[in-house]
Amino acid sequence: MNWGVWGAKMTTQQIAQTIEASLEAGVYAFDHADIYGGYTTEQDFGDGFAASGVSREQVVFVSKCGIRYPSEGATHSVKHYDYSAEYIENALEKSLRKLQTDYIDVFLLHRPSPLLDPRVAVPVLEKLRGQGKIKEWGVSNFTPSQLALIGTEGTPHWNQIECSLTHTTPMLDGTLDFHQSHSIGTMAWSPLGGFFKEPGAVQDRLEPVIHRMLEKYSCTVECLLLAWLFRHPAGIIPVVGTTRVDRIQAMAKAHKIELETEDWFALTEASWGHKVP
Ligand SMILES: NC(=O)c1ccc[n+]([C@@H]2O[C@H](COP(=O)([O-])OP(=O)(O)OC[C@H]3O[C@@H](n4cnc5c(N)ncnc54)[C@H](OP(=O)(O)O)[C@@H]3O)[C@@H](O)[C@H]2O)c1
Repeated sequence: MNWGVWGAKMTTQQIAQTIEASLEAGVYAFDHADIYGGYTTEQDFGDGFAASGVSREQVVFVSKCGIRYPSEGATHSVKHYDYSAEYIENALEKSLRKLQTDYIDVFLLHRPSPLLDPRVAVPVLEKLRGQGKIKEWGVSNFTPSQLALIGTEGTPHWNQIECSLTHTTPMLDGTLDFHQSHSIGTMAWSPLGGFFKEPGAVQDRLEPVIHRMLEKYSCTVECLLLAWLFRHPAGIIPVVGTTRVDRIQAMAKAHKIELETEDWFALTEASWGHKVP
């Protein structure tokens, strides 16, 4: 989302180099959505990938479909969600073409929609899986009840949700419990949360607690924020949005940090602004 025109506007060469450097650091999965960059970033990434020395088998591509919004070349005027069979199939074909690949490893329905009918969406996803065009399918931003509803037709492999030290809701509203009890994998978007993006009271409370721990764990702030997520038993996979190779290299080691229980709660308490009951 951040590598293309919505963010760093990387050149083809820079994308190729960043993919190669990610692989060297042990990061091999890349998150996409058709809409990123106003439907342009998958193509930019695809060009960069083709220019890299990395083979398709070495990497995992995640992509998403379903959000339609007015942009260049689009005929509609109202932002909306579309989970018709025809739209899902067409969106996948476009993503495959832009990413220059025969298959997508994980294909997600980007946002829940009141008009999403699991009896329509799940069979088409299963058909695409049967054809080998996707390896696994999942959803994104789904609540437990929405997961239960789509689960009447088939269990998603993944739910990609917003989750971080500054956005702990999924740990409290039953979302992660549902993932764990139904073997649904968790990907966390914006895993660094508001720490760098939203200066304010939460950041002010977290700052001294985090800085006290940096020496103890010999890591960067980003790594500590990820270590907090890794400590949760749901096996959360952070979808990191950095555009910098040095941060990718550092964060690739964050899973090795074993945050002590008391430190986990110290960070949580600082985020919430109160002790646990
Ligand atoms: N499923 C969904 O609905 C959904 C929604 C939103 C996003 N996503 C996915 O999640 C990914 C990550 O989202 P995100 O970018 O919000 O996540 P993030 O990883 O929490 O934040 C990344 C941002 O933090 C900055 N950052 C990292 N370390 C920093 C530091 N030490 N100081 C200052 N800034 C720092 C990065 O800047 P640098 O580039 O300079 O490191 C980047 O702008 C997206 O790329 C997208 O693939 C999915």
